[in-house]
Amino acid sequence: MIKKIELPYKLDALEPYYSKETLDIHYNTLYDGYVKNTNLTLEKLEQARTNNNFQDIKCLEKNLSFFGSGVILHELFFLNMILYVPTNPSKSLMDQIEKDFGGFINFKNQFTQSSINVEASGWNLLVWVPNFNKLEILQCEKHQNLTLWGCIPLLVLDMWEHSYFLQYKASRQDYINAFWNIVNWNEVNKRWDEICPIYKI
Ligand SMILES: [Fe+2]
Repeated sequence: MIKKIELPYKLDALEPYYSKETLDIHYNTLYDGYVKNTNLTLEKLEQARTNNNFQDIKCLEKNLSFFGSGVILHELFFLNMILYVPTNPSKSLMDQIEKDFGGFINFKNQFTQSSINVEASGWNLLVWVPNFNKLEILQCEKHQNLTLWGCIPLLVLDMWEHSYFLQYKASRQDYINAFWNIVNWNEVNKRWDEICPIYKI
């Protein structure tokens, strides 16, 4: 059984950039649903193994990909936001950003444009690609499918409509502009330092 993460801030802590009402629905209803459905699927998989009955295995494994990825991506997204604590990419992460994107502004521009252009519901991610030994930005339009096997998510932006429509309506640009004010680079740096041990400039 997986447990819901506790938010490290109050529901109104990201105001005005991310409203209390949006975060309340996002965390307490939608994310909660992903966690419950992941646990239900894990239980059913356990039952299937106990009974040696894999009649529904296709559906169960698809559900695990969909709900489980929803849990993981939401947790990365919620944790990579903060306000009132100035944060910046660490020296090593910034060096890598400069190497791979030609500077922080270039990275920010690409991440913003990539987010705006996510088709329908999906995510935008800064990822580390160990096989290429470099940072990349990826759109993830169906989170049950990996967009690049083996990549490690570092910075995640939820581009499903539920994440911004209540507050920003159809203006993805306004939502993303607001997001840049609440990125928690300390959390991104932690992932970079702890999960990407083989980064090289
Ligand atoms: Fe979401």
